[in-house]
Amino acid sequence: MRKKVTVVGSGFVGSTTAQRIVDMELADVVITDILEGAPAGKALDMMESAPITRTDSHATGISTNTGDYSATAGSDIVVITAGLPRKPGMSRDDLLKTNYGIVSSVVEQIVKHSPNCIIIVVSNPLDAMAQAAFKVSGFPKQRVLGMAGVLDSARMSAFVAMECKVSVENVHSFVLGGHGDDMVPLPRYSTVAGIPLPDLLPKERIDSIVDRTRKGGAEIVNLLKTGSAYYAPSAAVVEMVESILKDKKKILPCAVYLDGEYGIKGLFVGVPVKLGAKGAEEIIQIKLSAEENASLQKSAASVKELVTVLGL
Ligand code: LAC
Repeated sequence: MRKKVTVVGSGFVGSTTAQRIVDMELADVVITDILEGAPAGKALDMMESAPITRTDSHATGISTNTGDYSATAGSDIVVITAGLPRKPGMSRDDLLKTNYGIVSSVVEQIVKHSPNCIIIVVSNPLDAMAQAAFKVSGFPKQRVLGMAGVLDSARMSAFVAMECKVSVENVHSFVLGGHGDDMVPLPRYSTVAGIPLPDLLPKERIDSIVDRTRKGGAEIVNLLKTGSAYYAPSAAVVEMVESILKDKKKILPCAVYLDGEYGIKGLFVGVPVKLGAKGAEEIIQIKLSAEENASLQKSAASVKELVTVLGL
């Protein structure tokens, strides 16, 4: 039987995520939205591209404006992209309360129909929304993940490849912490063909890459003017989906519920995680310098502020 992935939200992130999953023939996809018509139209459009792209994965689109989520039943993974995106000048945190309401009501429905699924949250502010999904779902912590670290690391890798004029395939970057302006890119753990960045680039070039990575989402928002990024975010979600569905056990930076790891307790923060069929199968603890650890704790404190506002 084919795997089933539900993507909640048929906006740009949701629809490009669905398209990538269908094109890679990873699973059948159900796209949902509160809008009438849009999810069905996008799914049908994908089905009609399948004879050309040669995929037998099915896409179905449903409107959930009646509150009926039954078409999502039995999903292996549910990706939640629903929520308002950022507008220029808006921080991810401005979205806090509106998106909390949206994510909570979606999760309530999802758990009824797919009690064994793994939830991947993409809605912002990312770490707080993942924490909301965790609390509302009542799922074990292994089955609720937030997508951010893969995206932030991909952005850093793109900037490193541009700077060094090398293949992106040579670059591996590591970004920890919350998906906010104080995320923690780790140059020491970021490499080009295995060579750590500090051995390759002068400090000021690394500092500038770190800064651009932290502001990577805002850079796109300012260019697009009417929405936020979706190509890299959807690619990042799909790397997580693939690792889970194929039980690849890739180690990827994801937001997960920390229970003392990295000295952080009771909070979703981005750390390296082994992703397999059971979800977050292991949290990998790497050694941080005093400075790196201070940055991670600062980033966690920002997430804590948000979840406190929400009473989570
Ligand atoms: C970004 C938004 C999705 O980083 O948070 O592009």
